[in-house]
Amino acid sequence: MLRELLVEELRDLYHAEGQLVKALPKMAKAAKSPKLKEAIQRHLTETEGHVERLQKAFELLGEKQKAKPCKGMMGIVEEGREVIEEGKRRDEIDADLALIGAAQRVEHYEIAAYGTARAMAERLGEDRLVRLLSQTLQEEENADQKLTKIAEPMLRESETGGEEEEDEEMEMEEEEEEV
Ligand SMILES: [Fe+2]
Repeated sequence: MLRELLVEELRDLYHAEGQLVKALPKMAKAAKSPKLKEAIQRHLTETEGHVERLQKAFELLGEKQKAKPCKGMMGIVEEGREVIEEGKRRDEIDADLALIGAAQRVEHYEIAAYGTARAMAERLGEDRLVRLLSQTLQEEENADQKLTKIAEPMLRESETGGEEEEDEEMEMEEEEEEV
């Protein structure tokens, strides 16, 4: 039944958001750019609100506030941990870009899951729940877009590496041929 399926989706999300409340401070700490650090910290505050909204969602449905282990988010968080570790050996821009990549994986997972849950709530005519899920979905989408905006100037500044040297080598080879 769709209603049971929706409750399962919400329990999966409840676990996912709970993990993020623990993981985001570590990501914020690892961020080198003040803008990125601030964006992650702001999203942590929003994420705490997402947990509360999910608790409210269970209340609306008359269901227990129970989490179901979300293996997807566990994997994404684990990868995020690796990115933080590897970032220590990278230059600042690369480390931040990799961190943004990890954070956007989180957002996209949530956007997919909240979109699914909202569609189910719509079908069930749970209007208050739809509004609740829409608010969170909007914040996840905003967070994702903000990360893209932060990444853009970093990408422009980043050292591309290799390409210029390759070009030079090619030119040298051409010169040799001419001789
Ligand atoms: Fe969230």
